Order: sequence, then C-alpha cells, then structure tokens
Amino acid sequence: MALQWNDSLETGVAEIDHQHMEFIARINRIFDACRTGKSAQELRALLVFLEEYVVVHFGAEERHMKATAYPHYQEHKAQHDGFVHALAELKHQAATAGPGLSTQLSANRLLSEWLINHTGKFDRALGRHLCARAAPPSAPTAG
Ligand SMILES: [Fe+2]
Repeated sequence: MALQWNDSLETGVAEIDHQHMEFIARINRIFDACRTGKSAQELRALLVFLEEYVVVHFGAEERHMKATAYPHYQEHKAQHDGFVHALAELKHQAATAGPGLSTQLSANRLLSEWLINHTGKFDRALGRHLCARAAPPSAPTAG
C-alpha cells in the first residue's frame, strides 16, 4: 500500500515538508518494486537512491537544529543515525534475499514506522521549535 502525505506529518517548515514529500515518493517506489517483483538490481538502485536522499535530508534537519541550538539535537540525531544503519541492513537483506516477501515486509515495517514515529513526532516537534524561532516578535504594547 502506498504511503501518502497527510497533515499529521506536516512540520510547518516548507523545506523540510518538501523533503518529506520527496522521501515518501522514494519509499513508494521501493514498495512498488517489491510488490511488482522488480529485479534485485532495480530494488538495490532504489535503496541507494533513498540512502543518498536521506543524507541530504537529515543533513538539512541537523543544520537547522544546530543553527537554532535545538535542545533535543542529540536524541534526534541518534534517531537519524539509527535509521541510516537500519537502511543499510535493509539494503543488505535486499541484496541477499532479493525483492521477495521478506524484504517487502522489512521495508514496509522500517519505512512506515519511520514516517509515523519519527516524522510524525520528532520532526513535528522540531518544526514547532523552528516555527517558534522564526515567528516575528509580538507587537509592542502601547505605553
Ligand atoms: Fe528528523
């Protein structure tokens, strides 16, 4: 089943939201490759494609966190590092087991859970922090 962007994933930061949409598009290509029985080579290419994108995307989030002294940086960064590791394991599984049911289930679990648990919670919390930092100061009171 294809993943879809929805309001529960929105951070309110345009750059991050656009990257998440691209991330979902790439995940859906991987699901599609598993579902339609694409070759192991094609699946590997899609996983590499996702892996490269993750570096760019996590890098952008981490820059925002550092630039604004985000208090939960370490925890958030540890999640990113864990995902990079899990993605490497998925790539290994895809290379050894091929794009069959077991790889499909692993991909589905890893990528769907990431969206719900990381994007939907950690990235949204980051978005609230960044939006609060970007908000204009409240209007001065008279007198
Ligand atoms: Fe994140």
